[in-house]
Amino acid sequence: MLALQVNNQTLHAQIQVGAVGVDVGYGFVKAVSPVARISFPSVVAPFVEDPLSGLFHDRTGHRVRVRRANGEVEEKLVGEAALRSLAATATLSREKPAALHDLMLLTAAYLAGAGDRGPFPKQVDLAVGLPLAYFRAQKDALKKRLESLAAWVSVDGGEEKHISFGQVLVFPQGAGAVLAGEVALPGNGYLGVVDVGTYTTDYLLFEDRGDNIPHPLPEACGSLEAGVNLLHRSLAAEFQRQTGAPLAPAMYQEAVEGAMVGRPIHYAGRDIYLEDAFKKARRDIAQAIAQGVLAAWGGRAGFVALTILAGGGACLFEDELLRALPGARVANDPLFANAIGYHEMVCKVD
Ligand SMILES: Nc1ncnc2c1ncn2[C@@H]1O[C@H](COP(=O)(O)OP(=O)(O)OP(=O)(O)O)[C@@H](O)[C@H]1O
Ligand SMILES: [Mg+2]
Repeated sequence: MLALQVNNQTLHAQIQVGAVGVDVGYGFVKAVSPVARISFPSVVAPFVEDPLSGLFHDRTGHRVRVRRANGEVEEKLVGEAALRSLAATATLSREKPAALHDLMLLTAAYLAGAGDRGPFPKQVDLAVGLPLAYFRAQKDALKKRLESLAAWVSVDGGEEKHISFGQVLVFPQGAGAVLAGEVALPGNGYLGVVDVGTYTTDYLLFEDRGDNIPHPLPEACGSLEAGVNLLHRSLAAEFQRQTGAPLAPAMYQEAVEGAMVGRPIHYAGRDIYLEDAFKKARRDIAQAIAQGVLAAWGGRAGFVALTILAGGGACLFEDELLRALPGARVANDPLFANAIGYHEMVCKVD
């Protein structure tokens, strides 16, 4: 059975998928299969029986139950529901702890239609990404770990399904945007990718050696510790300046969306306007990101024919990045660009 999320509603259909691409980001988990595109905040909280759960029906919050072969059962809140939980301590840190990473991965895979029932459940093929900084050192270990991951999973009280992975591919984060095949190589000149995420911006540079295959230039690929989170922090600082109170992380997304259209936040009987601070922070952060990328590309920057902008930050910083980076254009679906590319690659391998 497939749990398909459309407009935040979970639909169920009798389709089983053979491959999923999952991008486990520090801010959001994104998953793509032939039948679904799923995203939820990368947050896990302990599951507690909530007497008010009937009153606050969650939009994208998920209750996840994972049962391992050794009989161990784990029940957690994942995503939006966890974000609102007071006990939500378990966000991803710099090195994603395996238990959290795998729980989010299983949840995303389930929601994208992975998993099977019966005595001989079928496996699903999987492609994931690793930040460049860890790629070389950790890709083999991650592949091995995911190949041996197996559990019975149920999300939001749905049917329990067995999820285990057959073929597992690990790509450098950001490469998904190029692998997606929507990009025609420039033929002449380099192809850049700038993936602006929540905490990190991954940048890559590829060369077309005439074989129509993008070859990465390792010395011009890397990560900056900058992303949408810096914008959140600026808004929180301005909110604190105006109100004397901190802005709860669960309000960040709403604050951004409000500031973008000049809508105030209502707080303690007052309207708090964050629009001006937002505009300034957006410009400053986008410039810092662009300068960091251009510095890393060095003398090659002038020969970049096309730069694909991906990640949730591509839309937020679009105007500035389009101006500052050579041949820049925003990927078709920037938030899902990596997951789409991973999914396409793992489908090709079969
Ligand atoms: N549906 C959406 N519409 C608009 N903006 C969004 C949406 N979903 C997420 N975002 C914004 O994009 C940001 C997340 O971007 P993205 O998912 O690329 O980051 P990430 O991959 O989780 O982070 P990192 O690459 O650092 O691990 C969020 O902080 C949010 O502000
Ligand atoms: Mg990302």
